[in-house]
Order: sequence, then C-alpha cells, then structure tokens
Amino acid sequence: MRRGLLLGVGVTLLVLLAGALLMVTFGLVPANADASPPALERWAAKKSLRATIAREAQKGDNPVALTDDNLLAGMKLYVPNCTLCHGGADGAASVVARGLYQRAPQLAKDGVEDDPPGVTQWKISHGIRFTAMPSFDRTLSEEQVWQLTLFLSHMDKLPPAVEAAWRQAASAPPPPHG
Ligand code: HEC
Repeated sequence: MRRGLLLGVGVTLLVLLAGALLMVTFGLVPANADASPPALERWAAKKSLRATIAREAQKGDNPVALTDDNLLAGMKLYVPNCTLCHGGADGAASVVARGLYQRAPQLAKDGVEDDPPGVTQWKISHGIRFTAMPSFDRTLSEEQVWQLTLFLSHMDKLPPAVEAAWRQAASAPPPPHG
C-alpha cells in the first residue's frame, strides 16, 4: 500500500518534470520581454525579494552623514549609472525604461524615500534577480552605495543647492514620440 503510494507520487513528479522540460524545449515558456509579468510570477518574485531582504538587509541608520557633499556625491553617481532605467529629475521614462519587462520605477515620481536605508542599500548593492536591476557591489565602494542610498532617501526633500544641481544634471533622453 505504502509502496504503491510512493510509486504514484514518483511517477507523477516524473511526468510533471518531463512536461516542464518539453515546454521549455519547444518554446512554450515565453522568453519575450514585451509582455506584462503574470500575477503568479509577480507574487513569487515579490515574496522572495521581501523575504530575502528581511533576512539580509542591515538595520539602522545610513552610516553616511546627511550633508550636501554626500547628497551631491550620490546624485553624481546616480546620473551616469541609474537615469537610463530610473529617470532624471523630470521623472520621464527613457526609451530603454519603457522596454523593460519588469518595469523600473521612475524614482523622481515613484521614489523610495519611505523605505528603510538598509533595504535600498541592499537592492543597490546586490541587484534584483530576474530583473534588469544590476548589482553594484563589484563596481562601487560601500561608501558610494550608501551615498546613493542617502540621495534616494532624500530625493523629494533635497537642500536647494543639491536640488538645483540635480535639475541641471543630464536627465534621461526624452521619449521619441511623446
Ligand atoms: C538597466 C536598468 C537599471 C539600472 C541601470 C538600474 N536599475 Fe534599479 N531597478 C531596475 C528595475 C527593472 C527595477 C525593478 C525591479 C523589480 O521589479 O523588483 C529596479 C529597482 C530598483 C530599486 C527598488 C525600487 C522599489 O520601488 O523598491 C532601487 C532602490 C533601485 N533600482 C536603485 C537603482 C540605483 C541607485 C541605480 C544606479 C546606481 C539603479 N537602480 C540602476 C532597473 C535598473
């Protein structure tokens, strides 16, 4: 009786595995980016990201001091590394941003000011798997990632000097057809 049950479970698993392999091999699992992620995929990706961050993100304040110099340093890192996907001060999405499968939030409009600094630092440092969000821990120093975090946490309340420099800095290329 027990052996029969185990055999049944084993055969079912094998059939499911073979079915999944066949779907991948015959191109029945969509590989295109010009679609919206289905609800199940969105749920699983969000759940897994939140659970990973809850386990790994650092708690507490940003170790970098809240000064104009650090905010400016964050802005100067943001412009060349992030505007392509996350937009400039005007919040307009670039052509690249509009073609991404997982939409990148345009941070001037849809920012992360309310997120704990450790969460934003984790995302910049490690990137987000299965999306275009790159990891920067091999290309930027720890201090630079915290400066970027400081800038994102204060994007909607920058001191006037930093705000002026941010508005002047190159923003994402405008969409071609409005
Ligand atoms: C090539 C595109 C791309 C680049 C360049 C990029 N990102 Fe992202 N980023 C994304 C995408 C796509 C997401 C959304 C991921 C998701 O759906 O979970 C994202 C998500 C984020 C988030 C989380 C937003 C939220 O609402 O939770 C932060 C913070 C972030 N990026 C910061 C940055 C910073 C800072 C830089 C530059 C140092 C950067 N990103 C560069 C594509 C990019």
